[in-house]
Amino acid sequence: MAKELVIYFSVYGTAKIVAEEIAKQRGADIAEIVPAVPYDSNRDNYNALARLAKKEHDEDLRPEIKNDIDIESYDRIYIGYPMWWYTFPMIIYTLFDKYDFSGKTIVPFNTHMGSKDGGTYETIKKLEPGAKVLTGLPVEMKEAEKGPEKAVERWLRDLEL
Ligand SMILES: Cc1cc2nc3c(=O)[nH]c(=O)nc-3n(C[C@H](O)[C@H](O)[C@H](O)COP(=O)(O)O)c2cc1C
Repeated sequence: MAKELVIYFSVYGTAKIVAEEIAKQRGADIAEIVPAVPYDSNRDNYNALARLAKKEHDEDLRPEIKNDIDIESYDRIYIGYPMWWYTFPMIIYTLFDKYDFSGKTIVPFNTHMGSKDGGTYETIKKLEPGAKVLTGLPVEMKEAEKGPEKAVERWLRDLEL
């Protein structure tokens, strides 16, 4: 059986909920992308986070990842993140700059408030041409908070892994 890892980035905790559900259903290992400079997870401060995320996006920044993630031991890697400004957070670009996923299978997923995947699954294919990218799972934020068990279960079944 393929060795599986779930990698995720999450500030408000909803991509984390989906990541943990995937890891649970697949018996996969899990690793969080920890930013060197933490983001403010207090939802009352959304406007400040929105401004910071916009700046990172507009200036094409690569926020540093604090931790090392072992991807070499895994064949199939789930990668999850929230939608930020119609694309993925810039730290996900850092991830793809830092690690080479050639020869691996990437299974993307994300949380959002209406943008679905925002075309990011196609972006992953361009950034990692040597990887096989399977059909991703976009999960609406409220759905993730209610519990993504069913959605994850259906998606994993349809992937026929
Ligand atoms: C800075 C920022 C920008 C966002 N931009 C979008 C967006 O463009 N489209 C969308 O559908 N949701 C957007 N959202 C909503 C998030 O994708 C949603 O809240 C997600 O569930 C957060 O994931 P997390 O709980 O793992 O951090 C944005 C949220 C933040 C904080």
